[in-house]
Amino acid sequence: MSEQPPKQAPLHVGMIMDGNGRWAKARALPRLAGHRAGAETIRRILEACPGLGVHWLTLYAFSTENWRRPDDEVSGLMSLLDQFLRERRKDLDKQRIRLNAIGGLERIPEPARTRLFETMAATRHHDRGVLTLALNYGARSEIVAATRRLAEEVAAGRLRPDEITEERLSGALSTAGMPDPDLIIRTSGEMRLSNFLLWQASYAEFWCTPTLWPDFSCDEFRRAVEEFARRGRRFGGLANV
Ligand code: FPP
Repeated sequence: MSEQPPKQAPLHVGMIMDGNGRWAKARALPRLAGHRAGAETIRRILEACPGLGVHWLTLYAFSTENWRRPDDEVSGLMSLLDQFLRERRKDLDKQRIRLNAIGGLERIPEPARTRLFETMAATRHHDRGVLTLALNYGARSEIVAATRRLAEEVAAGRLRPDEITEERLSGALSTAGMPDPDLIIRTSGEMRLSNFLLWQASYAEFWCTPTLWPDFSCDEFRRAVEEFARRGRRFGGLANV
């Protein structure tokens, strides 16, 4: 990726990585082989981010609904998370990317949870990009938790109801301090948000592709970013023409 990033690059890209299971099924492989190939796609995509002008990359790695999958798939995904963190640590250091995580992290089983916190601590000073893994994440429960936090402030007399603003609610979410996503990419032909960053994605551009996540390439990522650069974002206003 030696080309220049597009002028209007999306600073923050969210990705709904879908289609690992179908990728595996098409090859008569176990579902976990699809997830393993999906983890390899993350490695490539992460490497491509700086060249595309993407500073923040947020990946929907495990949703609150994913616990409903068979036990062996869930435990396989958690082992894969641990392996991913172990293997990617040198890349995060080399690329100076900070690891961040959002979601109900207390439910992530060991040893993945400890490795997650260790990797976040070890990379906290990296300044060339931020990789956020959404793990045991669900946007509705995130919004409920934020609302509850603000309600507690009101009940304690530290906050007046009229002081509850969009900014304050944003600041009570797990993404506090992060810019809202500019672009959300979903693979495998599905066109849903599936409880991912519902509040934060209010003005995000969407880009959907039939490509299954394990086959999602850096070339396709570049095409998505270039198309984003061509779209006129008006945020409810009028086009600048
Ligand atoms: C959706 O594919 C993908 C997931 C539920 C998990 C995403 C996980 C990875 C990309 C690999 C592991 C990542 C880390 C960071 C460890 P699906 O299984 O729903 O696919 P399907 O719709 O074709 O069945």
